[in-house]
Amino acid sequence: MTSSPLLPFLPVLLLLLLQIPAAAHASPLDTPREGTAPCKVGDLCPKVPLGKSNAPLVNVSLYYESLCPGCRGFLVRELFPTWLMVFEILNVTLVPYGNAKEQNVSGKWEFTCQHGEEECKFNKVEACLLDQLEKNAAFLTIVCLEELDDMEDNLKPCLQLYAPKVSPDTIMDCAMGDRGMQLLHMNAQLTDALQPPHEYVPWVVVNGKPLEDMTQLLTLVCQLYEGKKPDVCPLMASSHREVCLK
Ligand SMILES: *[C@@H]1O[C@H](CO)[C@@H](O)[C@H](O)[C@H]1NC(C)=O
Ligand SMILES: *[C@@H]1O[C@H](CO)[C@@H](O)[C@H](O)[C@H]1NC(C)=O
Ligand SMILES: *[C@@H]1O[C@H](CO)[C@@H](O)[C@H](O)[C@H]1NC(C)=O
Repeated sequence: MTSSPLLPFLPVLLLLLLQIPAAAHASPLDTPREGTAPCKVGDLCPKVPLGKSNAPLVNVSLYYESLCPGCRGFLVRELFPTWLMVFEILNVTLVPYGNAKEQNVSGKWEFTCQHGEEECKFNKVEACLLDQLEKNAAFLTIVCLEELDDMEDNLKPCLQLYAPKVSPDTIMDCAMGDRGMQLLHMNAQLTDALQPPHEYVPWVVVNGKPLEDMTQLLTLVCQLYEGKKPDVCPLMASSHREVCLK
């Protein structure tokens, strides 16, 4: 077993994961209208009544590669908690590719990844998840994979949690075949088109601008959102000021 920098967070995350399925279903599209089926006690319920604000969502795009420790840390410890708190005002886009390179070898794209072949494979697995699953389910399945050590073994249990109808074989067939290659090629084009170009990964773009301080995602998202802010926003802003000066 390899040592994992994420390990100390696992108990908390597993706890969270057990509770997520409720949140996963609470996308703006299928949240019950007001007055119908209220959230049950213990569910993770949206904190703000949805559909009341027409303000545009805050776009958060993560350019990353599947085995880079910094990417995994950002996804699991910054982006995921932010999503849990304010997913109703977020439009998250994941672009697995990162610092990979591609080459046209007699009409097929061949990829070279910073962390080796395995990383190219999991970049494709994640591109296939994003292609074939509903958006929230894909995001949660990828967070689930990225926080655990053996991604291939964990594809099945992670899918079982968030997309039980999708078989791991379907995803692996996509990843190992032409579809996976095409999807990764599209991610290569998205990554190469970044303006300004990415300097490292994880590279995070919020409403078109690179995020400079990775720890300020939630604060920035709250600031940028022009509609009625979720309840957690003022809370975060004030707790941030409570520092202990000497
Ligand atoms: C969310 O982001 C995607 C990709 O960046 C974009 O195509 C889509 O229009 C955005 N959706 C909203 C509601 O902003
Ligand atoms: C890839 O290479 C093949 C020949 O090796 C060529 O026919 C094709 O146009 C190239 N595709 C791109 C997108 O460059
Ligand atoms: C989010 O991205 C979409 C698609 O690129 C764009 O149409 C929209 O204006 C962006 N939203 C904001 C708040 O920048």
